[in-house]
Formats: sequence, structure tokens, C-alpha cells
Amino acid sequence: MRRARPGAVAGRFGDLLFDVKLPAEFVQRLRPLIAGRSVCVTGGAGFIGGHLVDALLALQARVSVIDDLSNASAEHLVELMELDPSSLRFVQGSILDDSALNEALAGAQVVFHLAAVGSVPLSIEHPERSWAVNDAGCVRVLQGARRAGVKRVVYSASSSAYGDVPGPVVPRVESQLPAPLSPYAASKLAGEFAMRAWSASYGIETISLRYFNVFGPRQSAGTPYSAVIASFARAILLGEQPVVFGDGLQSRDFTPVASAVAANLLSATTTQTLAGQVVNIGTGTRTDLLTLVKLMADRAGRPGAVPTFRPARTGDPRHSLADIAGARSLLGYQPIGTLEEALTETLAWFRTTLAAK
Ligand code: UD1
Repeated sequence: MRRARPGAVAGRFGDLLFDVKLPAEFVQRLRPLIAGRSVCVTGGAGFIGGHLVDALLALQARVSVIDDLSNASAEHLVELMELDPSSLRFVQGSILDDSALNEALAGAQVVFHLAAVGSVPLSIEHPERSWAVNDAGCVRVLQGARRAGVKRVVYSASSSAYGDVPGPVVPRVESQLPAPLSPYAASKLAGEFAMRAWSASYGIETISLRYFNVFGPRQSAGTPYSAVIASFARAILLGEQPVVFGDGLQSRDFTPVASAVAANLLSATTTQTLAGQVVNIGTGTRTDLLTLVKLMADRAGRPGAVPTFRPARTGDPRHSLADIAGARSLLGYQPIGTLEEALTETLAWFRTTLAAK
């Protein structure tokens, strides 16, 4: 069985299987608030969902996962279930299937809704599928949550809602008018409005977390839809040239996955009234892709690696940078770790995984 690095978040599962570290103080503070609670994670076999499941189990929650495995494997969940079958349930099914959803939601007090078709270019090729899963799916989850008597839904939204703002790069604030550029961005934004409306209409507590380019171990690489850090890590470690779409001067607020996990846990446990608020989850710093290639190549021991350039992608915003004051004040959120630390951790995971293939 695979072992995580020493120092990974510890719980009844010890250090096994956890690839991302949450601060010990954070874990100690949240464990009493989460231990023993029943929660459901939609999309829990996926990249961010899987790390959230790890943390929830370490904090001694009772977790059910629904995932259709359309963009994920059950391998990690199966390993976790072997460790403690009584803490984790897995329903293989779509959030568009009410009977699967009912099964997954039964008894849940909190739902973390991460299931989605999560790629800008994929949404441009298949807009109706993105819309069906990301919007009809969102409403299905909210309705299922109502049926199951769930108190709170924590929704994974996207900073792509902001689109592009001409002129100098300024951090995105939640009060800014959204301007989605792709079907994906529009679909994730519509989900936020559903969260707000279901809260106002039915009293269910909801919050939308607008993630800014989350990355880390276990993110999928090697497909045309893979996120940039995973793609660069794979290429650099395999001795290939990372592909940059456009001039490489576009920038993103690259957010270690531990921060996204922490934001979900804080949302589940806050005593603030949640009624559809939207908060940015990022770091407040941005990095352009050329700098990113250099940072990663240096850390991977391939300082000479140079990218190859392809035309810019349709639907790509030029820059993306979070103002995280809203999340700080509502949730007490703060980013975990630095970009450099998280890149090192991510590269180490990809190195081990690629070597094992
Ligand atoms: C990403 C997420 C999206 C999330 C959003 C939040 C993925 C696949 N997409 O979108 O779910 O809601 O952040 O802000 O995780 N690029 C390259 N080379 C590559 C891959 C990408 O140059 O091999 C470029 C892209 O053209 C883009 C930038 O890197 O300019 C970021 O692309 P990507 O990682 O796909 O993320 P977003 O589209 O920003």
C-alpha cells in the first residue's frame, strides 16, 4: 500500500494515503467540529474532492461519496474503504440520477458539491454536457439536499466567472460584475445563483467558493483538458517540452489544493449565517506561465527546460488574481503554504507516480 509523506494530516488513518498537509493547529481546531458528523462529497473521487475526503476522514467525519467516475478513478477511495469501511461509503453514479443521489445524501448534515465537468476547452467542445452536469446537476443536488434534510451545501464555484477585465491587473472582488467567457464559466456561475436562490426560497444554508486555479498531487495530467501545472509537471519530468498556449505572459492565482480543502472545512463549520454568499478562494498572488515553467523546471532538476508555444486557447482569460478579504472575514480563511512549497510537493508526487508506471 502507498504511503504518504511523513507529516501529512494524521487521524485514525495515520499518515497513510494523504498527499497533502494541513497545519496541525488547523486540524486540532476543526476536529471537534467535524468528528462524528455525516457529510456527503459529490465528485469525491476527483482531484479536489479526493483530498477533501482524506481530510474529512482524518477529522473523523462519516463520509459518503457520489461520483460517476467520468473523470476520475475509484482507486484512492477503495484504498480508504479498505482501511475503514465504516467511515466511508461510495455510491458510483451520476448527480443527475436521483436514486443514486438519494442514496448518497441519506443522513448527511452537510454536502460538499464538487461534481462537475471541470474544463474550459471541454465546455467549448461540449457545451450542453457542461451545462447539464454543472447546472441541472447543481439543482438536482440542491433538491436532493432538501429531500434529505441537509442543513448546509458548500458549492465549488469558479473564478472563471469573472472573465477578463481590460486594463491593469487588479484583484477580483466578489462585488465585481461577472463576465463569463466560456460555457464552463457561465455554468459554474449559474450554480452560484442556484445556491443563493435555494437559500432564499427554502432556507437551506449555502455558500459558493470561487476557486482560483487549484493544483496539487493527484491532479490529472496528460490529456488536452488537464490543468496547466499538472501538464507542466508531467512534461518536465518526462523530459518533454511543456506546451504554452499563447505568449505565456498570461497569469493565474495558483492555489495549493490544501487551501481549497481548508476553505471547504471552514465553510462546513462556521457559525456565520450562510445564505448564498460567494467568496474567492485563492492566494492573492499571481504567476505568469513563463515564470511557472522556470520555477517548476528548477525544482524538477531540469533548469534548461524550455516551453513550446501554441496558439492561445479560446475562452481563456488573460489574468486572474484573487482578493481574498471576503473569505478571510467570513470564514477566517487563509492560504496554506507557499507556491514554491506546493510546487515541490506536487512535483514529488508526479515523480513518484510517473516512476511507478
Ligand atoms: C482552471 C480550472 C477550472 C477552474 C479555474 C478557476 C482546470 C483544468 N481548469 O481553469 O476548473 O474553475 O481554473 O480559475 O483545472 N495552459 C497552457 N498549457 C497547458 C495547459 C494550460 O499554456 O498545458 C494555459 C491555458 O491556456 C490558460 C492557463 O494555462 O491560459 C490556465 O489553464 P488551465 O490550467 O486549463 O486553467 P483555467 O482554464 O484557468
